[in-house]
Amino acid sequence: MKSKNVKYVSIFDTTLRDGEQTPGVALTTEEKLEIAWQLDRLGVDVIEAGTPISSEGEKRAVREVAKAGLNAEICALARTARVDIDAAIACDVDAVHTFISTSDVQMKYAVNMTPEQVLSTSVDSVEYIKDHGLVCEYSPMDATRTEMGFLEQICKAAEEAGADRINIPDTVGVMTPLTMRKLIEDIKSVVKAPISVHCHNDFGMAVANSLAGVEAGASQIHVTVNGLGERAGNAALEEVAVALHLIHKRKTRINTRLLYDTSRLVARLTGIMIQPNKAIVGENAFSHESGIHTRGVTVVPLTFEPIKPEFVGRRRKLVAGKLAGTSGVKAELEEAGIYPTKEQLGEIVKKVKGLGDKGKTVTDVDLLAIARAVMGKVIKEKRIVDLTDLAVVTGIRVIPTASVRLVLDGKEYVASETGLGPVDAAIKAVQKLTSNLVNVRLKEYRIEAATGGSDAMGEVIIKVEDKDGNVVSARAVHEDIVMASIEAMIDGINKSLLKSRNRMR
Ligand code: KIV
Ligand code: ZN
Repeated sequence: MKSKNVKYVSIFDTTLRDGEQTPGVALTTEEKLEIAWQLDRLGVDVIEAGTPISSEGEKRAVREVAKAGLNAEICALARTARVDIDAAIACDVDAVHTFISTSDVQMKYAVNMTPEQVLSTSVDSVEYIKDHGLVCEYSPMDATRTEMGFLEQICKAAEEAGADRINIPDTVGVMTPLTMRKLIEDIKSVVKAPISVHCHNDFGMAVANSLAGVEAGASQIHVTVNGLGERAGNAALEEVAVALHLIHKRKTRINTRLLYDTSRLVARLTGIMIQPNKAIVGENAFSHESGIHTRGVTVVPLTFEPIKPEFVGRRRKLVAGKLAGTSGVKAELEEAGIYPTKEQLGEIVKKVKGLGDKGKTVTDVDLLAIARAVMGKVIKEKRIVDLTDLAVVTGIRVIPTASVRLVLDGKEYVASETGLGPVDAAIKAVQKLTSNLVNVRLKEYRIEAATGGSDAMGEVIIKVEDKDGNVVSARAVHEDIVMASIEAMIDGINKSLLKSRNRMR
Protein backbone atom coordinates (compact mmCIF):
# COMPACT_ATOMS: atom_id res chain seq x y z
CA MET A 1 0.00 0.00 0.00
CA LYS A 2 1.29 3.50 -0.85
CA SER A 3 1.35 6.35 1.63
CA LYS A 4 -1.65 8.71 1.38
CA ASN A 5 -0.14 12.18 1.81
CA VAL A 6 1.04 11.51 5.42
CA LYS A 7 4.54 10.28 5.91
CA TYR A 8 4.46 8.97 9.45
CA VAL A 9 1.52 7.22 11.02
CA SER A 10 1.08 8.81 14.43
CA ILE A 11 0.90 6.40 17.36
CA PHE A 12 -1.46 7.54 20.11
CA ASP A 13 -0.84 5.32 23.11
CA THR A 14 -3.69 4.92 25.58
CA THR A 15 -2.18 2.20 27.81
CA LEU A 16 -2.35 4.57 30.80
CA ARG A 17 -6.02 5.40 30.13
CA ASP A 18 -8.00 2.76 28.17
CA GLY A 19 -5.37 0.17 29.15
CA GLU A 20 -5.91 1.01 32.80
CA GLN A 21 -9.62 0.33 32.25
CA THR A 22 -8.69 -3.38 31.96
CA PRO A 23 -10.55 -5.12 34.78
CA GLY A 24 -8.18 -5.63 37.71
CA VAL A 25 -5.63 -3.00 36.65
CA ALA A 26 -4.87 0.06 38.79
CA LEU A 27 -1.56 1.86 38.43
CA THR A 28 0.11 4.12 40.99
CA THR A 29 1.61 7.45 39.96
CA GLU A 30 5.11 5.93 40.04
CA GLU A 31 4.02 3.04 37.84
CA LYS A 32 2.34 5.39 35.36
CA LEU A 33 5.51 7.45 35.24
CA GLU A 34 7.68 4.39 34.65
CA ILE A 35 5.45 3.28 31.76
CA ALA A 36 5.30 6.82 30.35
CA TRP A 37 9.13 7.05 30.30
CA GLN A 38 9.31 3.74 28.47
CA LEU A 39 6.61 4.77 25.96
CA ASP A 40 8.58 7.94 25.30
CA ARG A 41 11.79 5.98 24.74
CA LEU A 42 9.79 3.69 22.45
CA GLY A 43 8.82 6.72 20.36
CA VAL A 44 5.03 7.02 20.62
CA ASP A 45 3.67 10.38 19.43
CA VAL A 46 0.95 10.85 22.05
CA ILE A 47 0.60 9.47 25.57
CA GLU A 48 -2.94 9.55 26.94
CA ALA A 49 -2.01 9.64 30.62
CA GLY A 50 -5.43 9.22 32.22
CA THR A 51 -8.81 10.74 33.08
CA PRO A 52 -8.06 13.47 35.66
CA ILE A 53 -11.69 13.90 36.78
CA SER A 54 -11.86 10.30 37.98
CA SER A 55 -9.86 10.75 41.24
CA GLU A 56 -7.30 12.87 43.06
CA GLY A 57 -4.69 10.16 42.53
CA GLU A 58 -5.37 10.13 38.80
CA LYS A 59 -5.05 13.93 38.66
CA ARG A 60 -1.68 13.68 40.43
CA ALA A 61 -0.49 10.95 38.07
CA VAL A 62 -1.48 12.87 34.92
CA ARG A 63 0.19 16.02 36.26
CA GLU A 64 3.40 14.12 37.02
CA VAL A 65 3.48 12.60 33.52
CA ALA A 66 2.83 16.06 32.03
CA LYS A 67 5.78 17.60 33.85
CA ALA A 68 8.20 14.72 33.24
CA GLY A 69 9.71 16.51 30.23
CA LEU A 70 8.88 13.79 27.72
CA ASN A 71 9.02 14.25 23.95
CA ALA A 72 5.54 12.83 23.37
CA GLU A 73 2.43 15.01 23.44
CA ILE A 74 0.76 14.40 26.83
CA CYS A 75 -2.99 14.13 26.62
CA ALA A 76 -5.80 13.77 29.18
CA LEU A 77 -9.28 12.37 28.62
CA ALA A 78 -12.37 14.41 29.46
CA ARG A 79 -16.09 14.02 28.84
CA THR A 80 -17.61 17.03 27.07
CA ALA A 81 -18.25 18.59 30.48
CA ARG A 82 -16.61 21.68 31.96
CA VAL A 83 -15.62 19.91 35.21
CA ASP A 84 -13.81 17.20 33.28
CA ILE A 85 -12.08 19.62 30.94
CA ASP A 86 -11.06 21.93 33.80
CA ALA A 87 -9.59 18.94 35.65
CA ALA A 88 -7.60 18.05 32.53
CA ILE A 89 -6.39 21.62 31.96
CA ALA A 90 -5.31 21.83 35.62
CA CYS A 91 -2.87 18.98 34.95
CA ASP A 92 -0.87 21.11 32.49
CA VAL A 93 -1.25 18.65 29.66
CA ASP A 94 -0.53 19.51 26.02
CA ALA A 95 -3.80 18.10 24.72
CA VAL A 96 -7.32 17.21 25.81
CA HIS A 97 -9.17 14.30 24.24
CA THR A 98 -12.87 15.01 24.69
CA PHE A 99 -15.65 12.56 23.92
CA ILE A 100 -19.37 11.98 24.06
CA SER A 101 -21.70 9.20 22.89
CA THR A 102 -23.26 9.76 19.47
CA SER A 103 -25.01 6.45 18.69
CA ASP A 104 -28.77 6.34 19.32
CA VAL A 105 -28.48 3.58 21.89
CA GLN A 106 -25.81 5.36 23.92
CA MET A 107 -27.31 8.87 23.62
CA LYS A 108 -30.62 7.49 24.92
CA TYR A 109 -29.46 5.04 27.59
CA ALA A 110 -25.88 6.00 28.53
CA VAL A 111 -25.88 9.82 28.55
CA ASN A 112 -29.61 10.51 28.39
CA MET A 113 -29.30 13.40 25.93
CA THR A 114 -30.89 14.37 22.63
CA PRO A 115 -28.75 14.58 19.47
CA GLU A 116 -29.10 18.39 19.58
CA GLN A 117 -27.71 18.49 23.13
CA VAL A 118 -24.85 16.17 22.16
CA LEU A 119 -24.01 18.38 19.19
CA SER A 120 -24.04 21.61 21.16
CA THR A 121 -22.01 20.30 24.13
CA SER A 122 -19.45 18.88 21.67
CA VAL A 123 -19.00 22.24 19.96
CA ASP A 124 -18.84 24.12 23.30
CA SER A 125 -16.25 21.73 24.68
CA VAL A 126 -13.97 21.86 21.64
CA GLU A 127 -14.15 25.68 21.66
CA TYR A 128 -13.43 25.76 25.40
CA ILE A 129 -10.34 23.54 25.01
CA LYS A 130 -9.08 25.61 22.07
CA ASP A 131 -9.71 28.85 24.02
CA HIS A 132 -7.23 27.48 26.58
CA GLY A 133 -4.63 27.06 23.86
CA LEU A 134 -4.51 23.26 24.03
CA VAL A 135 -4.51 20.65 21.29
CA CYS A 136 -7.98 19.13 21.03
CA GLU A 137 -8.87 15.63 19.85
CA TYR A 138 -12.61 15.01 19.56
CA SER A 139 -14.26 11.57 19.71
CA PRO A 140 -17.88 10.80 18.84
CA MET A 141 -18.08 7.72 21.05
CA ASP A 142 -19.58 4.61 19.45
CA ALA A 143 -19.02 6.30 16.08
CA THR A 144 -19.25 2.99 14.25
CA ARG A 145 -22.88 2.48 15.41
CA THR A 146 -23.81 6.13 14.91
CA GLU A 147 -26.30 7.11 12.19
CA MET A 148 -24.05 8.24 9.31
CA GLY A 149 -25.73 11.61 8.67
CA PHE A 150 -25.38 12.57 12.33
CA LEU A 151 -21.80 11.30 12.52
CA GLU A 152 -20.77 13.45 9.53
CA GLN A 153 -22.62 16.46 10.94
CA ILE A 154 -20.99 16.22 14.38
CA CYS A 155 -17.48 15.58 13.02
CA LYS A 156 -17.80 18.62 10.74
CA ALA A 157 -19.12 20.73 13.63
CA ALA A 158 -16.20 19.66 15.88
CA GLU A 159 -13.72 20.50 13.12
CA GLU A 160 -15.30 23.93 12.59
CA ALA A 161 -15.16 24.52 16.34
CA GLY A 162 -11.39 24.02 16.12
CA ALA A 163 -10.73 20.31 16.83
CA ASP A 164 -7.19 19.46 15.71
CA ARG A 165 -7.96 15.77 15.23
CA ILE A 166 -11.15 13.76 14.87
CA ASN A 167 -11.02 10.29 16.35
CA ILE A 168 -13.38 7.56 15.16
CA PRO A 169 -13.90 5.06 17.98
CA ASP A 170 -15.13 1.55 17.24
CA THR A 171 -16.17 1.48 20.89
CA VAL A 172 -17.66 -2.01 20.94
CA GLY A 173 -15.43 -3.49 18.25
CA VAL A 174 -18.11 -4.32 15.68
CA MET A 175 -16.25 -3.29 12.52
CA THR A 176 -14.50 -5.42 9.92
CA PRO A 177 -11.60 -4.19 7.79
CA LEU A 178 -13.99 -3.64 4.87
CA THR A 179 -16.59 -1.62 6.79
CA MET A 180 -13.86 0.34 8.60
CA ARG A 181 -12.21 1.25 5.35
CA LYS A 182 -15.48 2.50 3.87
CA LEU A 183 -16.37 4.49 7.01
CA ILE A 184 -13.02 6.29 7.16
CA GLU A 185 -13.19 7.07 3.43
CA ASP A 186 -16.64 8.61 3.98
CA ILE A 187 -15.49 10.66 6.97
CA LYS A 188 -12.39 11.80 5.04
CA SER A 189 -14.64 13.11 2.28
CA VAL A 190 -16.30 15.59 4.68
CA VAL A 191 -13.56 16.33 7.24
CA LYS A 192 -10.16 17.86 6.47
CA ALA A 193 -8.67 17.53 9.98
CA PRO A 194 -6.40 14.51 10.59
CA ILE A 195 -8.41 11.37 11.33
CA SER A 196 -7.58 8.94 14.08
CA VAL A 197 -9.00 5.46 14.73
CA HIS A 198 -9.63 3.78 18.07
CA CYS A 199 -10.60 0.12 17.69
CA HIS A 200 -11.69 -2.36 20.33
CA ASN A 201 -11.08 -6.06 20.03
CA ASP A 202 -14.44 -7.65 20.83
CA PHE A 203 -14.35 -9.75 17.64
CA GLY A 204 -10.55 -10.01 17.55
CA MET A 205 -10.26 -7.47 14.72
CA ALA A 206 -8.94 -4.35 16.45
CA VAL A 207 -5.53 -4.44 14.76
CA ALA A 208 -6.90 -5.34 11.30
CA ASN A 209 -9.56 -2.62 11.56
CA SER A 210 -7.01 0.00 12.66
CA LEU A 211 -4.79 -0.87 9.70
CA ALA A 212 -7.79 -0.68 7.36
CA GLY A 213 -8.46 2.78 8.79
CA VAL A 214 -4.94 3.83 7.86
CA GLU A 215 -5.34 2.37 4.37
CA ALA A 216 -8.40 4.59 4.00
CA GLY A 217 -6.46 7.70 5.01
CA ALA A 218 -6.45 7.86 8.83
CA SER A 219 -3.15 9.28 10.03
CA GLN A 220 -3.24 8.19 13.65
CA ILE A 221 -3.99 4.94 15.50
CA HIS A 222 -4.95 4.58 19.16
CA VAL A 223 -3.17 1.59 20.69
CA THR A 224 -2.29 0.00 24.01
CA VAL A 225 0.71 -2.11 24.98
CA ASN A 226 -0.20 -5.83 24.95
CA GLY A 227 -3.66 -4.86 23.67
CA LEU A 228 -4.89 -3.97 27.16
CA GLY A 229 -8.19 -2.10 27.49
CA GLU A 230 -11.89 -2.37 28.24
CA ARG A 231 -13.34 -5.88 27.78
CA ALA A 232 -11.31 -7.63 25.04
CA GLY A 233 -8.97 -4.65 24.86
CA ASN A 234 -7.71 -2.23 22.22
CA ALA A 235 -5.48 -2.61 19.18
CA ALA A 236 -2.08 -3.85 20.41
CA LEU A 237 0.72 -1.30 19.92
CA GLU A 238 3.32 -3.96 19.11
CA GLU A 239 1.17 -5.64 16.45
CA VAL A 240 0.10 -2.37 14.83
CA ALA A 241 3.66 -0.99 14.73
CA VAL A 242 5.22 -4.13 13.26
CA ALA A 243 2.45 -4.62 10.68
CA LEU A 244 2.72 -0.98 9.61
CA HIS A 245 6.49 -1.28 9.16
CA LEU A 246 6.76 -4.72 7.60
CA ILE A 247 3.46 -5.30 5.77
CA HIS A 248 2.16 -1.83 4.92
CA LYS A 249 5.64 -0.31 4.50
CA ARG A 250 4.49 2.71 6.48
CA LYS A 251 6.71 4.62 8.85
CA THR A 252 6.09 5.29 12.52
CA ARG A 253 8.48 6.79 15.07
CA ILE A 254 8.47 3.55 17.05
CA ASN A 255 11.84 2.00 17.86
CA THR A 256 10.62 -1.55 17.28
CA ARG A 257 13.63 -3.03 19.12
CA LEU A 258 12.15 -1.77 22.38
CA LEU A 259 8.77 -3.43 21.85
CA TYR A 260 9.49 -6.56 23.85
CA ASP A 261 10.97 -4.73 26.84
CA THR A 262 7.99 -2.38 26.84
CA SER A 263 5.57 -5.27 26.76
CA ARG A 264 7.29 -6.99 29.68
CA LEU A 265 7.37 -3.80 31.74
CA VAL A 266 3.64 -3.27 31.22
CA ALA A 267 2.86 -6.93 31.97
CA ARG A 268 4.86 -6.70 35.19
CA LEU A 269 3.33 -3.43 36.40
CA THR A 270 -0.27 -4.25 35.45
CA GLY A 271 -0.07 -7.90 36.51
CA ILE A 272 -1.74 -8.92 33.23
CA MET A 273 0.35 -11.74 31.81
CA ILE A 274 0.74 -12.28 28.09
CA GLN A 275 -0.66 -15.39 26.44
CA PRO A 276 2.22 -17.52 25.09
CA ASN A 277 0.95 -17.46 21.50
CA LYS A 278 0.40 -13.69 21.39
CA ALA A 279 1.90 -12.15 18.24
CA ILE A 280 5.24 -10.32 18.63
CA VAL A 281 5.53 -10.47 22.44
CA GLY A 282 4.17 -13.91 23.43
CA GLU A 283 6.71 -16.41 24.76
CA ASN A 284 6.21 -18.67 21.73
CA ALA A 285 6.17 -15.96 19.04
CA PHE A 286 9.75 -16.77 18.01
CA SER A 287 9.97 -20.42 19.15
CA HIS A 288 10.23 -23.30 16.70
CA GLU A 289 9.65 -26.92 17.57
CA SER A 290 8.92 -29.11 14.56
CA GLY A 291 11.89 -30.64 12.77
CA ILE A 292 11.08 -29.01 9.42
CA HIS A 293 10.81 -25.60 11.03
CA THR A 294 13.90 -25.79 13.25
CA ARG A 295 16.02 -27.06 10.38
CA GLY A 296 14.61 -24.37 8.08
CA VAL A 297 15.27 -21.46 10.40
CA THR A 298 18.75 -22.59 11.32
CA VAL A 299 19.63 -22.71 7.60
CA VAL A 300 17.67 -19.68 6.27
CA PRO A 301 15.64 -17.86 8.97
CA LEU A 302 13.22 -16.45 6.38
CA THR A 303 11.84 -19.98 5.83
CA PHE A 304 9.63 -19.79 8.92
CA GLU A 305 10.29 -16.36 10.38
CA PRO A 306 8.30 -13.52 8.81
CA ILE A 307 9.72 -11.12 11.40
CA LYS A 308 13.37 -11.09 12.49
CA PRO A 309 13.27 -11.62 16.29
CA GLU A 310 15.90 -8.88 16.80
CA PHE A 311 13.61 -6.39 15.02
CA VAL A 312 11.33 -6.44 18.06
CA GLY A 313 14.06 -6.99 20.66
CA ARG A 314 13.77 -10.76 20.87
CA ARG A 315 15.75 -13.93 20.09
CA ARG A 316 14.82 -17.11 18.30
CA LYS A 317 14.18 -20.15 20.49
CA LEU A 318 14.37 -23.76 19.39
CA VAL A 319 12.29 -26.07 21.52
CA ALA A 320 12.93 -29.76 22.08
CA GLY A 321 9.72 -31.80 22.02
CA LYS A 322 7.89 -34.63 20.32
CA LEU A 323 8.10 -32.88 16.94
CA ALA A 324 11.76 -31.94 17.42
CA GLY A 325 14.30 -32.45 14.69
CA THR A 326 17.98 -33.24 14.98
CA SER A 327 19.21 -29.78 14.04
CA GLY A 328 16.99 -28.03 16.58
CA VAL A 329 18.16 -30.29 19.42
CA LYS A 330 21.78 -29.95 18.25
CA ALA A 331 21.53 -26.15 18.19
CA GLU A 332 19.98 -26.08 21.65
CA LEU A 333 22.67 -28.34 23.10
CA GLU A 334 25.43 -26.31 21.46
CA GLU A 335 24.03 -23.16 23.08
CA ALA A 336 24.57 -24.91 26.41
CA GLY A 337 28.13 -25.82 25.40
CA ILE A 338 27.39 -29.52 24.73
CA TYR A 339 28.66 -31.18 21.54
CA PRO A 340 27.38 -34.77 21.15
CA THR A 341 28.61 -37.13 18.42
CA LYS A 342 26.23 -37.99 15.57
CA GLU A 343 25.25 -41.26 17.29
CA GLN A 344 24.79 -39.60 20.68
CA LEU A 345 22.67 -36.89 19.08
CA GLY A 346 20.45 -39.50 17.41
CA GLU A 347 19.96 -41.22 20.77
CA ILE A 348 19.15 -37.90 22.52
CA VAL A 349 16.55 -36.99 19.86
CA LYS A 350 14.96 -40.43 20.20
CA LYS A 351 14.61 -39.96 23.96
CA VAL A 352 13.23 -36.41 23.57
CA LYS A 353 10.57 -37.71 21.17
CA GLY A 354 9.79 -40.58 23.54
CA LEU A 355 9.08 -38.12 26.35
CA GLY A 356 7.00 -35.99 23.99
CA ASP A 357 4.95 -39.04 22.98
CA LYS A 358 4.09 -39.52 26.64
CA GLY A 359 2.66 -36.02 26.66
CA LYS A 360 5.59 -34.46 28.55
CA THR A 361 7.01 -31.06 27.80
CA VAL A 362 10.77 -31.28 27.48
CA THR A 363 12.33 -28.38 29.36
CA ASP A 364 15.98 -27.44 28.98
CA VAL A 365 16.63 -29.19 32.33
CA ASP A 366 15.16 -32.40 30.85
CA LEU A 367 17.22 -32.03 27.68
CA LEU A 368 20.43 -31.68 29.67
CA ALA A 369 19.49 -34.66 31.84
CA ILE A 370 18.88 -36.73 28.70
CA ALA A 371 22.16 -35.57 27.18
CA ARG A 372 23.94 -36.42 30.45
CA ALA A 373 22.40 -39.90 30.47
CA VAL A 374 23.34 -40.54 26.84
CA MET A 375 26.80 -39.00 26.90
CA GLY A 376 27.74 -40.28 30.36
CA LYS A 377 30.72 -38.55 31.95
CA VAL A 378 31.58 -36.69 28.78
CA ILE A 379 29.61 -33.58 29.81
CA LYS A 380 31.44 -31.40 32.23
CA GLU A 381 29.02 -28.61 32.95
CA LYS A 382 30.99 -25.44 33.28
CA ARG A 383 29.98 -23.31 36.25
CA ILE A 384 30.73 -19.63 36.20
CA VAL A 385 28.96 -18.95 39.50
CA ASP A 386 29.32 -21.16 42.59
CA LEU A 387 27.91 -20.89 46.09
CA THR A 388 30.49 -21.13 48.88
CA ASP A 389 28.47 -19.95 51.89
CA LEU A 390 24.95 -18.99 52.90
CA ALA A 391 23.58 -17.66 56.20
CA VAL A 392 19.99 -16.60 56.86
CA VAL A 393 18.34 -14.92 59.84
CA THR A 394 14.57 -14.98 60.19
CA GLY A 395 12.01 -14.82 63.02
CA ILE A 396 8.90 -13.07 64.29
CA ARG A 397 10.29 -9.60 64.99
CA VAL A 398 13.27 -9.88 62.67
CA ILE A 399 13.53 -8.67 59.08
CA PRO A 400 14.53 -11.75 57.09
CA THR A 401 18.15 -11.25 56.03
CA ALA A 402 20.49 -13.42 53.98
CA SER A 403 24.24 -13.25 53.39
CA VAL A 404 25.78 -15.18 50.54
CA ARG A 405 29.33 -15.81 49.47
CA LEU A 406 29.78 -16.66 45.80
CA VAL A 407 32.67 -17.40 43.49
CA LEU A 408 32.16 -15.54 40.21
CA ASP A 409 34.54 -16.29 37.37
CA GLY A 410 37.12 -17.47 39.94
CA LYS A 411 36.84 -14.52 42.38
CA GLU A 412 34.99 -14.53 45.72
CA TYR A 413 32.29 -11.96 46.59
CA VAL A 414 29.93 -11.46 49.57
CA ALA A 415 26.55 -9.67 49.74
CA SER A 416 23.62 -9.34 52.15
CA GLU A 417 20.01 -8.49 51.42
CA THR A 418 16.70 -8.35 53.26
CA GLY A 419 13.46 -9.72 51.86
CA LEU A 420 9.91 -10.79 52.55
CA GLY A 421 11.22 -14.14 53.76
CA PRO A 422 14.57 -15.98 53.88
CA VAL A 423 14.20 -17.34 50.32
CA ASP A 424 13.38 -13.89 48.93
CA ALA A 425 16.33 -12.35 50.83
CA ALA A 426 18.78 -15.02 49.66
CA ILE A 427 17.66 -14.79 46.02
CA LYS A 428 18.00 -11.00 46.13
CA ALA A 429 21.54 -11.31 47.54
CA VAL A 430 22.51 -13.70 44.71
CA GLN A 431 20.98 -11.36 42.12
CA LYS A 432 22.87 -8.41 43.62
CA LEU A 433 26.21 -10.21 43.20
CA THR A 434 25.55 -11.58 39.73
CA SER A 435 23.76 -8.59 38.16
CA ASN A 436 26.98 -7.36 36.51
CA LEU A 437 27.44 -10.71 34.78
CA VAL A 438 23.84 -11.42 33.88
CA ASN A 439 20.64 -9.62 34.77
CA VAL A 440 18.07 -12.32 35.33
CA ARG A 441 14.66 -12.12 36.90
CA LEU A 442 12.79 -14.96 38.52
CA LYS A 443 9.90 -15.69 36.16
CA GLU A 444 8.48 -18.75 37.92
CA TYR A 445 9.10 -20.37 41.29
CA ARG A 446 7.55 -23.65 42.40
CA ILE A 447 8.28 -25.73 45.46
CA GLU A 448 7.26 -29.32 45.98
CA ALA A 449 7.90 -31.76 48.82
CA ALA A 450 9.66 -34.72 47.27
CA THR A 451 9.06 -36.96 50.32
CA GLY A 452 6.66 -36.80 53.31
CA GLY A 453 7.32 -35.59 56.89
CA SER A 454 8.99 -32.50 58.33
CA ASP A 455 12.37 -33.77 57.10
CA ALA A 456 10.95 -33.93 53.55
CA MET A 457 13.26 -33.14 50.68
CA GLY A 458 12.11 -29.91 49.05
CA GLU A 459 12.27 -29.71 45.27
CA VAL A 460 12.46 -26.20 43.85
CA ILE A 461 11.74 -25.64 40.17
CA ILE A 462 12.39 -22.19 38.75
CA LYS A 463 12.44 -20.33 35.46
CA VAL A 464 14.71 -17.33 35.05
CA GLU A 465 14.59 -14.84 32.20
CA ASP A 466 17.47 -12.65 31.02
CA LYS A 467 17.05 -9.13 29.62
CA ASP A 468 16.69 -10.47 26.06
CA GLY A 469 13.77 -12.66 27.06
CA ASN A 470 15.68 -15.97 27.03
CA VAL A 471 14.16 -18.30 29.57
CA VAL A 472 15.95 -21.24 31.22
CA SER A 473 14.60 -23.65 33.80
CA ALA A 474 16.53 -25.07 36.70
CA ARG A 475 15.73 -27.36 39.57
CA ALA A 476 17.37 -28.39 42.85
CA VAL A 477 16.53 -30.75 45.70
CA HIS A 478 17.61 -30.23 49.31
CA GLU A 479 16.21 -30.87 52.79
CA ASP A 480 16.53 -27.10 53.43
CA ILE A 481 14.21 -25.14 51.14
CA VAL A 482 16.39 -22.01 51.26
CA MET A 483 19.33 -24.10 50.04
CA ALA A 484 17.18 -25.76 47.36
CA SER A 485 16.02 -22.33 46.19
CA ILE A 486 19.51 -20.86 46.07
CA GLU A 487 20.99 -23.88 44.32
CA ALA A 488 18.23 -23.75 41.69
CA MET A 489 18.77 -20.01 41.25
CA ILE A 490 22.53 -20.38 40.85
CA ASP A 491 22.00 -23.24 38.42
CA GLY A 492 19.61 -21.04 36.40
CA ILE A 493 22.13 -18.17 36.40
CA ASN A 494 24.93 -20.49 35.23
CA LYS A 495 22.81 -21.81 32.38
CA SER A 496 21.72 -18.37 31.35
CA LEU A 497 25.32 -17.11 31.38
CA LEU A 498 26.65 -20.11 29.51
CA LYS A 499 23.98 -19.81 26.86
CA SER A 500 24.60 -16.14 26.27
CA ARG A 501 28.40 -16.64 26.11
CA ASN A 502 27.99 -19.51 23.63
CA ARG A 503 25.56 -17.44 21.57
CA MET A 504 28.14 -14.67 21.28
CA ARG A 505 30.84 -17.02 19.95
O1 KIV B 1 -13.72 3.17 23.24
C1 KIV B 1 -14.03 4.38 23.25
O2 KIV B 1 -14.97 4.83 22.61
C2 KIV B 1 -13.22 5.25 24.09
C3 KIV B 1 -13.52 6.72 24.01
C4 KIV B 1 -13.23 7.42 25.27
C5 KIV B 1 -12.81 7.31 22.84
O3 KIV B 1 -12.32 4.81 24.75
ZN1 ZN C 1 -11.82 2.76 24.13
